[in-house]
Amino acid sequence: MHTLMVDFAHRSYSIYIGYNTLSKLTLSDNNQRHTQFVLITNQTIANLHQATLLSYLSNHKIQTIIIQEGENWKNLDTVSNIIDQLMTMQCDRHTTLIALGGGVIGDITGFVASCYRRGIRFIQIPTTLLAQVDASIGGKTGVNHPKGKNMIGTFYQPYQVIIDLKWLDTLPDPEYISGLAEIIKYGLIGDVHFYHWLSTNISALMNRDQTVLMEAVYKSCQYKANITASDEYDTGAREMLNFGHTIGHALETITKYQDMLHGEAVSIGMVFAMKLSLKIYDMPQQNLTDLIHLLRQAKLPTDVPKNIDLSVLLSILFQDKKVLDKQLRFVLLKKIGQAVVIPISSDMVHALLSEKAI
Ligand SMILES: NC(=O)c1ccc[n+]([C@@H]2O[C@H](COP(=O)([O-])OP(=O)(O)OC[C@H]3O[C@@H](n4cnc5c(N)ncnc54)[C@H](O)[C@@H]3O)[C@@H](O)[C@H]2O)c1
Repeated sequence: MHTLMVDFAHRSYSIYIGYNTLSKLTLSDNNQRHTQFVLITNQTIANLHQATLLSYLSNHKIQTIIIQEGENWKNLDTVSNIIDQLMTMQCDRHTTLIALGGGVIGDITGFVASCYRRGIRFIQIPTTLLAQVDASIGGKTGVNHPKGKNMIGTFYQPYQVIIDLKWLDTLPDPEYISGLAEIIKYGLIGDVHFYHWLSTNISALMNRDQTVLMEAVYKSCQYKANITASDEYDTGAREMLNFGHTIGHALETITKYQDMLHGEAVSIGMVFAMKLSLKIYDMPQQNLTDLIHLLRQAKLPTDVPKNIDLSVLLSILFQDKKVLDKQLRFVLLKKIGQAVVIPISSDMVHALLSEKAI
């Protein structure tokens, strides 16, 4: 098992990564103030994993709130519904919420924890690969508004993050592969050795080899934890995590979050960002070829789908959070392992969007 400390001064917390990490779950504090615990999950995850979790917590009374499944339910109605149930359960300021699920459950639970009675404790138990390497770490919580994704939210750190790779045994392949895109991203933006290691071990990773998976998740969590601890409120270094997300988010918006998973959209976005990097910095063409090869081995897409209207895609790019003074800004690579954010003209973006990936 690996343990990481996320350094937020008095709000620092541990992330446990490995198999059978549930033994690290700490519900009660020394002075026994925290005595009420509410598990938040959806029916699919409850059917698969609730019994296992509860077997570790047999000394505690755990109440459960089941919410509707899917991104469509990541909204204020669900938040309000959860808060109604917490009130009915007479939860006080010493209640602890436990998020068991993917990024949707984690984001909603964290948001409720940050607002209910002006903030109560919550624990992240992520069950998708994407949530394990990304969403559960860093303290971004929130829900969607009809006019925009993640428009309502807070920065609020969990009390603990328990990453048990055993949960992934039941995760469908597309969801698993979607998480791999974020893992590859960490190598590209921050660690050339990790990137080469991923290229060497991609087959084992696709086969969910336990040792390789553990190393990949650990390295990813380490990178995300370090970068978020250095920039908790997303005003600087954390922007690098957006590599591949400028085009990725626009593709998700244009396809209304129906046709592609987040990691698939990011994969296409990373190829695009690599092409831009080649144009602007003196990087070898081989870097692009290698990246496309790696992503295809991971069964991730590399081309903007043919049915996407490029001018609509370009207009959506201007809603990106990195846009400054109406100027598009992209996270690019100066070299593998070193990312920068720079302004890019929309003409250049349009020209490159029209090119096909090799
Ligand atoms: N807070 C952050 O920093 C952050 C970062 C990245 C993404 N996110 C958010 O995360 C969300 C996406 O998260 P996600 O990719 O985990 O998707 P998700 O939470 O929607 O989960 C995907 C599907 O997998 C199912 N599932 C979860 N665990 C399972 C398991 N072990 N076995 C079988 N099925 C399982 C879920 O019920 C769901 O149907 C988005 O809302 C995104 O905005 C947040």
